[in-house]
Amino acid sequence: MSEDRDPIIVALDVDERDKLLRIAGSLQGRVDTVKVGLEAYTRMGPRILDELKEMGFRIFADLKFNDIPNTVSGAVKGLVRRGASMLTVHISGGRGMLEASLDAAESEADAMGVATPLVLGVTVLTSLDDTAVAEIGWSGSAADTVISLARMGLGCGLHGFVASAREVPGIRACVGSDAVLVTPGIRLQDAEAQDQVRTASPAVALSAGADYLVVGRPVTAHADPAEALREIRRAAGLPEGV
Ligand code: C5P
Repeated sequence: MSEDRDPIIVALDVDERDKLLRIAGSLQGRVDTVKVGLEAYTRMGPRILDELKEMGFRIFADLKFNDIPNTVSGAVKGLVRRGASMLTVHISGGRGMLEASLDAAESEADAMGVATPLVLGVTVLTSLDDTAVAEIGWSGSAADTVISLARMGLGCGLHGFVASAREVPGIRACVGSDAVLVTPGIRLQDAEAQDQVRTASPAVALSAGADYLVVGRPVTAHADPAEALREIRRAAGLPEGV
């Protein structure tokens, strides 16, 4: 792992600002990084990133960019200005877009005198199966396409990848130990999977080689988010606080 950080990331996929800030408040001191996705970003605007940062959180802006290099470059700079420490781009956006994203992240971070955020690649969305992959026109299976996209992303200089715990060993073997692997779909044993199919427990994901575990609804939909997080941290063998 190229970073020495607390591995738990809470995905704040919430549709209402007060609720999001209430949950975030109950997690202060218990988690370093929170993830803001398209739902919260489009409902609350980029200001939500500022507010979470002011509360002391490290920000993972998971907006999964995929557009022409110039447009994505501008959007990445916008996220660096908002203080994002991690962000995502679709590898299928192509080499030009990936290289422009990395250049933008580095140059904007340099200009601001901050650390360059981790630019992470999305391979094949976990919602796609082999049939959907073939329909898009990718020639291999979903699993093969994940590996070939990860290899290409690494060649472009991406810092890491988002993958299900099941894919982590294969990606790790292909991209080596320096790439940062972020794993969503984390569930405690016997917990409801909801719409996730490829779930893993915190301990299994970590032992598979994940650097970060993304946990959303098991925390945000719990009556007591702090208690839910405590259970996840315990199951991962982590201390209660950060
Ligand atoms: O609520 P849950 O724990 O399932 O949340 C998982 C989070 O990880 C969500 O924010 C989702 O957008 C994100 N994610 C995912 N699968 C991917 C990439 C991101 O579930 N392949």
